[in-house]
Amino acid sequence: MNKIHNVGNEEIEINLLLEAIYQKYGYDFRNYSRPSLTRRIGNFLQNSKYQSIAEIIPDLLDDVTVLKNMINAISVTVTEMYRDPDFFKETREKIFPYLKSYPRINIWHAGCATGEEVYSFAIMLFEEQLYDRCNIYATDMNEQSVNIAKEAIFPIDIIKIGTENYRKAGGKHSFTDYYYSKFDRVIIDNNLKNNITFSTHNLVTDGCFNQMHIILCRNVLIYFNKDLQDQVLQLLTKSLLYNGIFCLGPKESIDFSSVSNDFETLSKINKIYKKTKAR
Ligand SMILES: C[S@@+](CC[C@H](N)C(=O)[O-])C[C@H]1O[C@@H](n2cnc3c(N)ncnc32)[C@H](O)[C@@H]1O
Repeated sequence: MNKIHNVGNEEIEINLLLEAIYQKYGYDFRNYSRPSLTRRIGNFLQNSKYQSIAEIIPDLLDDVTVLKNMINAISVTVTEMYRDPDFFKETREKIFPYLKSYPRINIWHAGCATGEEVYSFAIMLFEEQLYDRCNIYATDMNEQSVNIAKEAIFPIDIIKIGTENYRKAGGKHSFTDYYYSKFDRVIIDNNLKNNITFSTHNLVTDGCFNQMHIILCRNVLIYFNKDLQDQVLQLLTKSLLYNGIFCLGPKESIDFSSVSNDFETLSKINKIYKKTKAR
């Protein structure tokens, strides 16, 4: 027997599953970070009727609902209002004064999950009298998350941490000004939605956005391997205007990547960068 290839059965089955998803539906998870992806596919398998990963494939090819369930199982959509309040505080104090020099401001939240980050940012823009001049694009590959974000009705539990984080992030009013409660749900004030366009967009397989003044892509790249991170960083760099602001999550960085020389670091801790090369 030829022993050149030493790949375990589980890895082969995962490769086949990802290839099937890509070839049939165009979603490309092949360069996602393997340990976390393997864990999530394992969880999906455990909670399903299937005995093995290979068994999923024929159903997946026949039935788009299996794909949708897989996407929901594979994507990590955890988020919260003002996640990492220090990031929001620093953006408000250091970046917003600079944004005030622009008559129109294009903002892209790439990988917005269920929208808490988008509404947190929108509240700050509103409090700094910037909201009216903003076009805000909020995208995610997960359609179910985008629909929740668009609807802006959340479980009431988001309020406790949201109120605490809002204060830590330098919120200027009362957090209650921005939502009303109905039974066990909170509904975000409709006025915050006026300038936001929500849509599905896949950072791996879809094209870039143009002329962005600020891009937030926070806590998304951590799920990709280094090659894919670099590919997506190139797309995001292309989408930013010269002097545009780029924000990553605390565990992410541009340092290793092919675009690292295109940026000046404005905050090492909060991962805020400014594009200093025109390309
Ligand atoms: C952990 S959440 C981050 C949410 C928010 N940015 C935050 O920091 O709280 C990661 C999001 O990235 C999205 N995502 C993963 N791969 C993606 C891709 N290829 N294109 C667009 N979004 C993607 C997931 O669906 C998920 O909603």
